[in-house]
Amino acid sequence: MKILVTGGTGYIGSHTVVELQNRGYDVIIVDDLSNSSIEVLDNIAKITGKKLLFEQFDLTDQDKTKGFFRKYNDIKGVIHFAAFKAVGESVNFPLKYYRNNLLSLINILQGMGDNAIPNIVFSSSCTVYGQPAVLPVREDAPVQKAWSPYGATKQISEDIINDTSRSAGIKGILLRYFNPIGAHESAIIGELPIGEPNCLMPYITQTAIGKRPFLRVWGNDYNTPDGTAIRDYLHVTDLAKAHVIAVERMLNETMKQNVEVFNLGTGNGFSVMQVIESFERSTGVKLNYQIMDRRPGDIEQVWADTGFANKELGWKTEKSLDEMTASAWKWEKELAKKRK
Ligand code: UD1
Repeated sequence: MKILVTGGTGYIGSHTVVELQNRGYDVIIVDDLSNSSIEVLDNIAKITGKKLLFEQFDLTDQDKTKGFFRKYNDIKGVIHFAAFKAVGESVNFPLKYYRNNLLSLINILQGMGDNAIPNIVFSSSCTVYGQPAVLPVREDAPVQKAWSPYGATKQISEDIINDTSRSAGIKGILLRYFNPIGAHESAIIGELPIGEPNCLMPYITQTAIGKRPFLRVWGNDYNTPDGTAIRDYLHVTDLAKAHVIAVERMLNETMKQNVEVFNLGTGNGFSVMQVIESFERSTGVKLNYQIMDRRPGDIEQVWADTGFANKELGWKTEKSLDEMTASAWKWEKELAKKRK
């Protein structure tokens, strides 16, 4: 069974490819390597010992995408990760985000429709909820006006898949991720931020290893127990496994609607300070940090109601926060060895 993974050399994509191969699927990756490295392919092979197919091109190229789907019309399902994801950059370069994230999805859906490939798993985000009025947030909570062009592309992509499912026989599973962190237990693959990271976990590990002088904690005057913002952090391998389950749900035709939406989180919210404490506890490393003003565009707190995913997918996260922070550190140390 051949599964196409777009963005398969990226952070979540690479972990998902490993889990797919472990379950016996044939994987074909399409990636333009705009934010990832070709070496990830060898690293995946080191973990799984299996071969995969790889095509390097930009999915916003309509002709190339068309040709690709014609060539590989035996694909049974698509997991679509390939997208730009930097919230701040999307504010400065909105057209870059709309063009890349939307055109690629449109071309993929066209190729799927033309070649009778019905199944797509889409990489969405809890960002579609904005600051939810009710916590934990459920899948039927209202989608709020996006806070960034990045968030808008996720909302519009969900709409595009919904509309296409009505007209072109496409079935979609929209996975709304909370905050994925950590790395594969082997520390052979992990998150590879280019330049200064935006996200909390790589910023913490880069500070601890000495690449950054200190972590800036964005605000401690939120209406939360310790004043710092709260998120639902989940381990990337737990997240990757949910994609395999979603693909199987499509292939086994056990979906209850043409498009289904699932929150993927642990169901627990942790503050920035709690993540720092967990990091220090699980690694024994003391972290330099300073409290700063709030970061514009950040919401105060969000965590998932995971009841629907737990029940319908039979999926639940396994890793604790301490395991997650320890795994991120193991990966950072591995990277440091390679840099030497
Ligand atoms: C956001 C989006 C998420 C998106 C991701 C892409 C929301 C709720 N989440 O995640 O959908 O996929 O961006 O990158 O909109 N923090 C610090 N110091 C730092 C970095 C972060 O204090 O140097 C804090 C942030 O203020 C936040 C928390 O850590 O409270 C998590 O931040 P981050 O890892 O950037 O993720 P989100 O902004 O939640």
